[in-house]
Amino acid sequence: EKGGYEHFMLKEIHEQPKAVRDTISPRINKENTQVVLDELKWTKEYVENFNKIYIVACGTAYHAGLVGKYYIEKLARIPVEIDIASEFRYRDPIIDEHTLTIVISQSGETSDTLAALKESKRLGAKTLAITNVVGSSIAREADQVMYTWAGPEIAVASTKAYTTQLVTMFLFAMYVSGLKGTITTERTHELLTQLRLLPDEINRTLEDVEPIKTFAKNYAFNNDVFYIGRSLDYNVALEGSLKLKEISYIHAEAYAAGELKHGTLALIESGVPVIALATQKSVYEKTLSNIKEVKARDAVMIGIAAEDDNELEKYVDHVIKVPATDELLIPLLTVVPLQLLAYYAAITRGCDVDKPRNLAKSVTVE
Ligand code: M6R
Repeated sequence: EKGGYEHFMLKEIHEQPKAVRDTISPRINKENTQVVLDELKWTKEYVENFNKIYIVACGTAYHAGLVGKYYIEKLARIPVEIDIASEFRYRDPIIDEHTLTIVISQSGETSDTLAALKESKRLGAKTLAITNVVGSSIAREADQVMYTWAGPEIAVASTKAYTTQLVTMFLFAMYVSGLKGTITTERTHELLTQLRLLPDEINRTLEDVEPIKTFAKNYAFNNDVFYIGRSLDYNVALEGSLKLKEISYIHAEAYAAGELKHGTLALIESGVPVIALATQKSVYEKTLSNIKEVKARDAVMIGIAAEDDNELEKYVDHVIKVPATDELLIPLLTVVPLQLLAYYAAITRGCDVDKPRNLAKSVTVE
């Protein structure tokens, strides 16, 4: 049942190219010029009714939501607020009939997410669920559903659900921007062409596993690991750090690189592993200067960069490169080495990778 892999998590990491392809292909036309969402069939008027979007989710799905917020605001120019589901209901959110609430949930059964969905509906929002389980409670409760076609995810640590949630959010943002006219036909074509290449690029990323195994072995007995990045890189850093905590029980934190100076830099001392993501052009120089600050405290730095980057390696101890793609889509690639790093760190420490202590696959209590 594990298809020759030692753990479900490793199998599911390797299923990402297929999961991403299955989620994308039914939703783009042959010419790569249009996103077609038969499950929504929205009109320009329908979209223009919304003046605000909430994204609500837990854990990894929340991290996918952070990327989703970025996509929607960047491409479709609709303001997005994002909340952790267990916080959302208790802060009296401002919702009316011009609000769209998107909930994201792999299982479709997370109680807090379901409750947030119900509360949104009660207050008059339109609701859209992004979920992996057909007929789940969340799928049944929402007005509309976009399924991630990841296939069953068994390991407690979410991997292929995250990457398929990312592409689903991307497709949604492209769809809405097409309807609203906030994107040009050239840019649409360029992005959809890059999107189609992702499954093969994820495959290539998966092949480059040896250095990651070595890092995992070398750093698996450190007490703390930090992840830093700006913009989308920060969102991926959050997911990488959750993965490491969850299955290897190493204390890991992700910080927006620009926040370091506001407190966290005090924790950086000689030999502490810091994983720095630097793929976003608009903040690249700023990220580099943060990396230099950390390096100056003698941290051990692992950089994650696109393969056409020849700069980062000058400032860090090791670099992991991923194929170069549009910077909007690169989170789909940079997360892969972080998943593998968490996996091999957990193996090195002898942890039960598929069933980490204290955790359940689906959290059905609030
Ligand atoms: O089924 P859901 O997507 O609603 O689950 C949400 C979280 O419980 C889940 O993503 C959790 O954070 C994972 N174990 C992370 O790997």
